[in-house]
Amino acid sequence: MKGLVLSGGSGTRLRPLTHTRAKQLLPIVGAPILHHILDSLQDAGIKETVILISPETGNLVKSSCGDVWKGMSLEYVVQDKPLGLAHAVSTAKDLIGEEPFLLFLGDNVLKGGVKKYVNEFESKKMDSMVLLSKVDRPQQFGVAIFENDELVGMVEKPEIPPSDLALVGIYFFDKKIHKIIENLKPSKRGEYEITDAIQGLINDSVKVHHMRVDGWWKDTGLPKDLIEANTLLLQDIETRIDGQMSGGRLNGEVIIEKGAVVENSYIEGPVYIGEGSVIRNSNISAGTSIGKNCRLNTVDVGNSIIMDKCTLSAVSYPMSDCLIGEECVVKGNVDPRLNVVLGDRSVLEVPD
Ligand code: G1P
Repeated sequence: MKGLVLSGGSGTRLRPLTHTRAKQLLPIVGAPILHHILDSLQDAGIKETVILISPETGNLVKSSCGDVWKGMSLEYVVQDKPLGLAHAVSTAKDLIGEEPFLLFLGDNVLKGGVKKYVNEFESKKMDSMVLLSKVDRPQQFGVAIFENDELVGMVEKPEIPPSDLALVGIYFFDKKIHKIIENLKPSKRGEYEITDAIQGLINDSVKVHHMRVDGWWKDTGLPKDLIEANTLLLQDIETRIDGQMSGGRLNGEVIIEKGAVVENSYIEGPVYIGEGSVIRNSNISAGTSIGKNCRLNTVDVGNSIIMDKCTLSAVSYPMSDCLIGEECVVKGNVDPRLNVVLGDRSVLEVPD
C-alpha cells in the first residue's frame, strides 16, 4: 500500500508562525510534525508515499523532506486550492493509481505510529478502515455514528454529536473511494469532505472497518495543541546525552544533541535540547523542546517549544506554554502570565 500525506492548507489558526512556513513543518521534539509522520509510515513498511502540497508552501515542504525518506520514495503533487480532504485525494489519484493507500493528515500526531493499524488493514484485506478516538469536544471533528456496535455513518463537525468518537486524521482506503469522490457534492462549507466520501462507501454497502486508537492522538490545529503534542511526544523519549553538560543537574529523561552545551543549569525532563544550542544558568522544566543553535542564559522555561536560533536572556519571570518561532529574541521583564506565541524573527523585550 502507498502513503498519502496532506501537507497543504494555509494554517490560519497557527499564524503568525504559518506566515513563514507550512503548518506541517512546525517542530515538536526537534523535528517537523511531517518528519514524525514520514517516520511512522516508513516504520510501517510503506515503500512509496505521495505528499500533497500547496502552491504557497510546497517548495519548503519539498526541500525539508526530499525525494527519499529512509528508503521510502516520496512524490509530490500540488493542490491548487484547498477544497477539502476528498478533493485532495482526487488531486493525488493519478500518483496513487490502483493501490490501497493510507491517508494521513499532515497535522496529526499519533502515539506509537501506524504499524499495527497497517498490519490489521493488510492482513484482513479490508476495503476501508477508519481510526476513532474518544474526545471531549466532538463538535470539532468528524464523528462516528454507531448502531449496535456497528459503524453505520459519520457526520462532519455536528452541533449535536451522535457519539464522542472522533475520526482520527488517518484513513485506509482501496480504489473504490476514487469512484465515490468523483460523484461527491461540496458540503455547506464549500469543501469536498472525506467524511461524506466515507459515508458514500457505507451507503454503497462497502464495509468500513474501525479501530479505536489506544494511545493519545492530537490534531495540531491551534498553538495549544502543538504545545500539548510536544509534551505528549516528549513522554516517550529516553535520555541521550551527545552534547556536553557541566555543573547543574539533570532529572528525568533528557536528550542533549551533539554540539549542545548545558552549563550550570537545572534540567527537569522530559526535555529536548537541539544541536548546537547553549544553555547557561537556566532552569528548563518538563515539556520543553529547544531547537538548534539557540542561546539561553538566565531563563526559566517550561512546557514550551523554542524553535531554532532563538536567543532568550535574562528573562525575569518563568516562561510557560510559549511557542517561540525561529530566530526570536526574548529578554527582560516579560510578564509571567503571558503564554507567548511569537512569529519568526520577532523581538520581545520588556525593559525594567
Ligand atoms: C479534519 C476532518 C475531520 C477529522 C479531523 C482529524 O478536520 O475533516 O473529520 O476528525 O480532520 O484531524 P479539520 O482538522 O480539517 O477541521
